[in-house]
Amino acid sequence: MSDLTGKVALVTGGSRGIGAAISRRLADAGAAVALTYVQAVDQAREVAKQIEADGGTAALIQADLAHPEAAAEAVEQTVRELGRIDILVNNAGFLTYGPLAEVSVAELDRVLAVDVRSVFLAAQAAARHMGDGGRIISIGSCFNGRVPGSNFVLQATAKSALIGLTKGLARELGPRGITATVVDPGPIDTDMNPADGETADFQRSLTALGRYGEAEDIAEAVAYLAGPGGRYVTGTALAVDGGYTT
Ligand SMILES: NC(=O)c1ccc[n+]([C@@H]2O[C@H](COP(=O)([O-])OP(=O)(O)OC[C@H]3O[C@@H](n4cnc5c(N)ncnc54)[C@H](OP(=O)(O)O)[C@@H]3O)[C@@H](O)[C@H]2O)c1
Repeated sequence: MSDLTGKVALVTGGSRGIGAAISRRLADAGAAVALTYVQAVDQAREVAKQIEADGGTAALIQADLAHPEAAAEAVEQTVRELGRIDILVNNAGFLTYGPLAEVSVAELDRVLAVDVRSVFLAAQAAARHMGDGGRIISIGSCFNGRVPGSNFVLQATAKSALIGLTKGLARELGPRGITATVVDPGPIDTDMNPADGETADFQRSLTALGRYGEAEDIAEAVAYLAGPGGRYVTGTALAVDGGYTT
């Protein structure tokens, strides 16, 4: 198990689903964790309560990453409250889909703001504070390897931008010992994509393993990349997708 004792992590969208599992997993490994939420304050408090009940340290930050100043402010608040930042996990996101012809400019702007611009701005702010051993880990999507049909052009656009952003970060921050990576989940059972949802069987059929993953599967990959074992992994994406892109 990765030992993250003494490290501080910021997990965006840590109130529910994959972000909540990542927050708990990094705390289990010894990191103090700041987690952000927008509306799910009770669920965010519950995650923090669990972390503290297990002897860890958690801080809650309200941050709507659709606003341009929110990402850098979340980083600064993490540093103010927990003293430093070593691990940034860009996890927050929301699902949007529909035919190309119906995507509005407002929708396009919102997805790019939350899924891409906020990641850029959080990385920019975090890099000012991180030292050797820093980690920037962004949650992408299996759409980076395979878009399974129509209606996902916006989601695919936003998530694939994380690949270029991550390669750029890896080159720029590598000399300082900071790594940048993407984790691309397949279908994971969360509020966003429930395993009993309308398209769940179709999604299962696209995986090699024939099943959904759990949020904890993504959290394990993040813990690996965040820990000492991930020190020579940078500028690349790790698919944790049950073989969706095989
Ligand atoms: N589940 C899947 O099958 C799957 C597959 C591929 C990729 N992913 C990616 O994995 C990440 C997490 O997804 P999930 O399934 O865990 O989703 P989820 O259960 O719907 O949770 C989404 C999280 O993002 C936060 N969030 C939503 N809009 C936000 C905004 N404008 N600013 C800041 N935070 C915001 C939510 O905050 P509140 O709780 O306060 O609303 C919540 O914490 C996303 O980036 C998603 O694209 C998921």
